[in-house]
Amino acid sequence: MTKWQALQDYHRGIADRSLISLFDQAGRAPEFSVSLGEMMLDYSKTNIDSRAKGLLLDLANASGVAQKRAAMFSGEKINDTEGRAVLHTALRAGPKAVITLNGADVMPEVRATLARMAAFARDLRAGRIKGQGGAITDVINIGIGGSDLGPVMATLALAPYHDGPRVHYVSNVDGAHIADTLKGLDPTTTLVIVASKTFTTIETMTNAETAQRWMAAKVKDTGAQFAAVSTAAEKTAAFGIDPSRVFGFEDWVGGRYSMWGPIGLALMIAIGPERFEEFLAGGRSMDQHFLTADFAQNMPVLLALVGIWHNQICGYTTRAVLPYDQRLSRLPAYLQQLEMESNGKSVAMDGSALATDSGPVVWGEPGTNGQHAFYQLIHQGTRVVPCEFMVAKAGHEPDLAHQHLLLVSNCLAQSEALMQGRSLAEATAIMAKKGVTGPELDRQARHRVFPGNRPSTTLVYPKLTPFVLGQIVALYEHRVFVEGVILGLNSYDQWGVELGKELALALQPILEGASAAAKDGSTAQLAAWFRA
Ligand code: F6P
Repeated sequence: MTKWQALQDYHRGIADRSLISLFDQAGRAPEFSVSLGEMMLDYSKTNIDSRAKGLLLDLANASGVAQKRAAMFSGEKINDTEGRAVLHTALRAGPKAVITLNGADVMPEVRATLARMAAFARDLRAGRIKGQGGAITDVINIGIGGSDLGPVMATLALAPYHDGPRVHYVSNVDGAHIADTLKGLDPTTTLVIVASKTFTTIETMTNAETAQRWMAAKVKDTGAQFAAVSTAAEKTAAFGIDPSRVFGFEDWVGGRYSMWGPIGLALMIAIGPERFEEFLAGGRSMDQHFLTADFAQNMPVLLALVGIWHNQICGYTTRAVLPYDQRLSRLPAYLQQLEMESNGKSVAMDGSALATDSGPVVWGEPGTNGQHAFYQLIHQGTRVVPCEFMVAKAGHEPDLAHQHLLLVSNCLAQSEALMQGRSLAEATAIMAKKGVTGPELDRQARHRVFPGNRPSTTLVYPKLTPFVLGQIVALYEHRVFVEGVILGLNSYDQWGVELGKELALALQPILEGASAAAKDGSTAQLAAWFRA
């Protein structure tokens, strides 16, 4: 019997039991929780018991997670459909690390680039790098996907630490995005960072050209107010960006894993190099934990196993990420790319069809806003949505501690309500107390039943500092890695984004008047509608 089958068989026998009854066993909550410093992940409100956990750990071991982890950290080319190593961990490995790739230590270059970024950020923040109109007041990062989502998310998350120029992000090729951003900015005191690993992404290059035209209308030497972040040095030079303003990285950093290096430049400008270093240290501490903790106490491994349990074993096809932290409002969007671009695949490493479902649909919004929007479905809809709550012990606003208390109580109440539910008898008693009687009592009560037994995890952390944010991001990166290894796919390529890009290019001339004869009827009709 395979490890998968063993899990499925075991699950079949326990699928319908009540989650709350699991707490009859003393010590369940601490047993099904894992901590790292002051951060704790509680996964006790799931249907995982000791036997299920044992089987999940067997699956992780049999899938070679430990071996693949060693391969990733040591620079083996585990992204084998692109022939690349996966070494984003090197970007946060710190001052003493030595990481050898193709016979050479990559760390001196990583540290040198980080030092150049820090010098640039310091000069900019101190007003030593100036625009034509004086000190730089605004920085626009133009990038998309991995060159946008991580830095945007982190910039919002670390708002209490902003003490540099204002930082803006433009990603969408929709001209509305750049138009709205440029409105109100002074081109003579704005710096533009063009962030693109490949420096070919059409959205980014189009927005960069628009920004250049906008600036050129008022600024003589636009080159002095442009910088670039890319792996493609020749292309940045061709765009006219001075090499001293180009911050490079290597192809062994995947786009969605790149915020730890030069792609994080705008974030570094916002919070300063010291705080950025704390963010890296947070990621590093999670790396150490991931590398050294026993799987049974390893936070990324356990979070991944909870994910596998819910998605592949229980058959729940989506996963809600619900940060009770307004500053993590873009975390779900960031995780959508991280998880779905990494593990949304149907082909195994060897080219065969994936034996299980691929990674889940990831979505979410911060609490408590979500409670007033989609929680209705989470509580009473017909499909089960495993929820991943997260909340800080303390906020950044000591004078608003009472609001933080309200936030935390809402977060804890939601996971409690999802598990506990409300029976028909309880709902009937509530409605009877309100004076409803007869057949109407039963009808009204049924609408107020909560099925309960809905699983969730809760991640608690001390405060959303740069260090803690680094831990959270690295936690999810490694979770994706572990899930990918167990599913047997390559988490580090993204061929699924290519076809749409190619077809978009082919459609441009058709929208400008070329024949749509080769297109399907629907696409031809839509193109004709735009042309008309
Ligand atoms: O959407 C595909 C993708 O290649 C992502 O993986 C990447 O993060 C994004 O486009 C942006 O790419 P680049 O940084 O090369 O502009």
